[in-house]
Amino acid sequence: MVSYLPYERFDESRIWRIHQDYFQNVGLKAWRKGHIPYSGVSNFTEAYKKARLFVSNLISLQAQGTIRILEVGAGFGEFAKNFLSALREICVYEEHDFFERLEYHISDFSQTTLDELAESGRLDEFKELIHYKVFDALDRYSGLEKESYDLVMANYLLDQFPARIFARSKGRYFEKYLSIEDPQALIDREKSKGFWLSRGKWVKRLKKRHRFIELDIDDELPMEHREILETCFRRGKDSSVVYSYGSLAALRNFLTLLKANGLIVCSDFNAASKPGMDGCEPCYYGNSVAQAVNFEFLFKYFKQTDKLDELKHLEQGELGYQMALIYEDPIKPLHTMILTRPDYSQSLELGRIYQKVYHQNWLLRTLYKFLVEMQLACYVLLLFMLLYLFSSGIIGFL
Ligand SMILES: C[S@@+](CC[C@H](N)C(=O)[O-])C[C@H]1O[C@@H](n2cnc3c(N)ncnc32)[C@H](O)[C@@H]1O
Repeated sequence: MVSYLPYERFDESRIWRIHQDYFQNVGLKAWRKGHIPYSGVSNFTEAYKKARLFVSNLISLQAQGTIRILEVGAGFGEFAKNFLSALREICVYEEHDFFERLEYHISDFSQTTLDELAESGRLDEFKELIHYKVFDALDRYSGLEKESYDLVMANYLLDQFPARIFARSKGRYFEKYLSIEDPQALIDREKSKGFWLSRGKWVKRLKKRHRFIELDIDDELPMEHREILETCFRRGKDSSVVYSYGSLAALRNFLTLLKANGLIVCSDFNAASKPGMDGCEPCYYGNSVAQAVNFEFLFKYFKQTDKLDELKHLEQGELGYQMALIYEDPIKPLHTMILTRPDYSQSLELGRIYQKVYHQNWLLRTLYKFLVEMQLACYVLLLFMLLYLFSSGIIGFL
């Protein structure tokens, strides 16, 4: 008989505390052993796209003085290495002096990870411009200097924050609760089979069960969040969505750290709404939890919010928040969100590569959505096409 811990609201469940402890303590071993995937957005091509985007904006802003970049949740430092190489390459090739004026602040909430990264020598090639900083993305009082960064980047970080999962069925709202197997029971079971858990990946093997409990959503969420979240459910159908409130809090923090003409660039997995009461299962890497992010909610939030309380003192630019949401791949859910402060003085430059990715993938994505979600319409369209081909004699002729 499996011994389960009591049900807890998903975002408050024990599994997130295991996740926190894991990343606080595991150090670079998590990446070296291949437990945490990172090539998706940390490879040179992806880093190059971001460097290109940044340079395009620096050019249009005619940026002066020291250029300060903050990378949050940097982990293994692979992205930093590739980004700095790409930025240097672009600057040398196009004869800009941005690289010579650069400070790269590499941060993570784990001191262990940062210490091991510094000692590993992985970033020694750039050691003159690198600064290591412990920074918790959810900490509003982190001690980092406000309004001081030209670029804040986070890869696979927004999915690290607890989120709530809601389902809407026949106009009623429900929330996901999780109950996990007592970790001690798993340890005992594995020991009895002669296995040992220290291989470092056991959270995935913990037995889990979830259920949905009805709630009054009006009492649970701030009104502006609720109104936006409601638009993320499927119209007229039962569906489930992720309420990425942790990611939103992190983005709000990042905004306070940006210079007036700074950019935030975050890449992560998107959580689209799911049909029915769906647990929106996270991924488990090593002993960590990765909950895909509801980018639609984040995007609409900044689109509809005039200005955040913490930015009220700013002179609002004519343009307000400028954003882009890039579907990196039309089928896989990897997304990149680019966000400026409301007083950003130029219009946001996506840079050649992102512009291309944005347009191509938007089109392909729309087609894909159409195929997946509108199967019926597709059959009807196919029928009409066949009828047309028959009536015009094309099929008969072939
Ligand atoms: C999935 S890894 C991503 C690492 C790296 N950015 C990459 O793309 O390979 C998540 C990283 O975020 C860090 N992290 C988790 N929660 C954090 C928080 N609240 N603030 C800052 N860093 C955090 C973890 O320590 C870990 O290094």
